[in-house]
Amino acid sequence: MTCIDGKKIAAEIRAELRDEVARFTRQSGKTVGLAVVLVGDDPASAVYVRNKIRACEEVGIRSFAYTLPADASQSAVEALVTELASDNAVDGILVQLPLPAHLDGERILSLIPPAKDVDGFTAENLGRLVCGERGPVACTPLGVMELLRRSGIDPDGMHAVVVGRSNIVGKPMAMLLLNANATVTVCHTHTKELAKVCAQADLLISAVGVPAFITADMVKEGAVVIDVGISRKDGKLKGDVDFDAVAPKTSCITPVPGGVGPMTIAMLLKNTLTCAMRSAK
Ligand code: GUN
Repeated sequence: MTCIDGKKIAAEIRAELRDEVARFTRQSGKTVGLAVVLVGDDPASAVYVRNKIRACEEVGIRSFAYTLPADASQSAVEALVTELASDNAVDGILVQLPLPAHLDGERILSLIPPAKDVDGFTAENLGRLVCGERGPVACTPLGVMELLRRSGIDPDGMHAVVVGRSNIVGKPMAMLLLNANATVTVCHTHTKELAKVCAQADLLISAVGVPAFITADMVKEGAVVIDVGISRKDGKLKGDVDFDAVAPKTSCITPVPGGVGPMTIAMLLKNTLTCAMRSAK
């Protein structure tokens, strides 16, 4: 069994990106800029946003952080995103989710120009992914693909089972795997005999957000298991996978923390640089 070290792989990617950002700036005379919009005071979101801004600094991407109060109006958030959409110093726009319940998130995301949609959350970019066209792809599933690639795992021909069907992880994950020639099954809350389906997977990817959801009986001997779940239990970060029981059955597994999580931010930086390069052309 190999435990994939996402922290180490993400650090390697950030080091590569630092060089690529410096080269782009030297050759184009432009800096790379990411705008991060946080609405409200959700503590977990505040930590994620802080980590994203710190990572930008590390690789030489200029960040523009905007924090709006929890009771910000729909029009105030829309006005900010609209302003950032036409700001030439901003190559990427990230609106941290979840947004407070009174806001229409879909409408806010629709104001992000697809060429600045570093999260790949807009309907156009999700559609491009379905059609196999180039465009920013959601950072977490993209990070999973990069982890697999750098660990020498090719999904081609594998039976991949994705647990979770969100627009942010499950759906783009399934599309990326399909585009990489895997046979893909997507499971969700209405799936019958979930454990049996999971146990057929050569590659099992869980994005549920329930600690110890994936137990040893749900995993085939020799499977690759990727844990995208993050939840907090007794102050500790927990993945979806009952790691101690499952790991011995796998050929490869990602831990939580230190697996997929660090890759998400590395892919955000990569998407931001790619958006800057495309807009400079
Ligand atoms: N909330 C949880 N994950 C993400 C993410 O990848 N991007 C944004 N914008 N919000 C999130």
